[in-house]
Amino acid sequence: MVARLEANLAAVSIVKALQTEDRAATPAEQEILARWSGWGAVAAVFEEKLGESRALTQGRQQLEALLTDREYAAARLNTINAHYTGTALAQAMWDGLGAFGFTGGRVLEPGCGAGTFIGLAPLGTAMVGIELDPVTAHVAAALYAHAQIRNENFADTQLPEGSFDAVIGNVPFGSIHMKDSRHNPGRRHPIHTHFLLKSAALVRPGGWIALITSRYTLDGVGADAVAARRQLATLGELTAAVRLPSSAHRRAAGTDVVTDVLVIRRFENGEQPRPASPPGYRRSPWTSTACRSPSTGTSPTTPAWCWATWLRAGRGGPMTCR
Ligand SMILES: C[S@@+](CC[C@H](N)C(=O)[O-])C[C@H]1O[C@@H](n2cnc3c(N)ncnc32)[C@H](O)[C@@H]1O
Repeated sequence: MVARLEANLAAVSIVKALQTEDRAATPAEQEILARWSGWGAVAAVFEEKLGESRALTQGRQQLEALLTDREYAAARLNTINAHYTGTALAQAMWDGLGAFGFTGGRVLEPGCGAGTFIGLAPLGTAMVGIELDPVTAHVAAALYAHAQIRNENFADTQLPEGSFDAVIGNVPFGSIHMKDSRHNPGRRHPIHTHFLLKSAALVRPGGWIALITSRYTLDGVGADAVAARRQLATLGELTAAVRLPSSAHRRAAGTDVVTDVLVIRRFENGEQPRPASPPGYRRSPWTSTACRSPSTGTSPTTPAWCWATWLRAGRGGPMTCR
């Protein structure tokens, strides 16, 4: 934690210098900015505790000196879902999109963090990242000057529907319900489902949505969760669903949440959703097939392995990685 805190403090210092001097980052500064791991990785710095380490107390004092009150409050609120995707998984998701036929175009990353997916985007891709936290958005913009980074709440994002060829990323999870009269009327859906539904609406017919989301997007049993899945089913086809091991984000983000990679292909204009299962027909639960190594029979250890195995296996159906 202390090493991450020190790396983040170094990155914040650079962001502040860039803001004051109104200039782009040098390559040496970009190396330091690339070590930024987000507020989620240093959440403890915002919780003052008796008997805490000196490094933590000093780190907090430095942060308070560097950030404005507004930035500090935003950072503190942001700790809950600022956990970044490991590069192996992000690369595997880009590879997966390529395998499905994506050949480039305009791509959105909602909740882009420091821009892991933007940094790995294939040639011929014009990236637009949306990021709520002001410091994080500045880090992403300084690292990826070729991308358009918008520092705003995705709930407030106004972009034409159907204006992207694909959406990729790892959405924020949680029980917060944001106001967005067009894409979340009545604040019906939690943030992860809201992000998914809005993303799907912003993609053109025939385009792709590849997002890591909370397992509750698919597992939620309440009426609103079912309604969200029905809405998604009218927009596109669930082409891939891979449940990642709970350890998938431990190393990169220090969290054990269970997440799914979902890939949805937007229907072409005029394309009809496939008919629902006939009455009496019971599909096996989508998580029924375990993902195991063909050679050893053991469970995989990395999310990228799960994803690559699923692609190699001919994309036969939903899969669980335990
Ligand atoms: C799970 S992290 C993923 C970051 C990045 N996409 C990645 O994969 O490394 C979610 C990101 O969404 C951002 N975020 C949270 N709420 C948001 C909102 N309402 N609008 C835009 N971004 C948001 C967080 O600050 C965080 O950077």
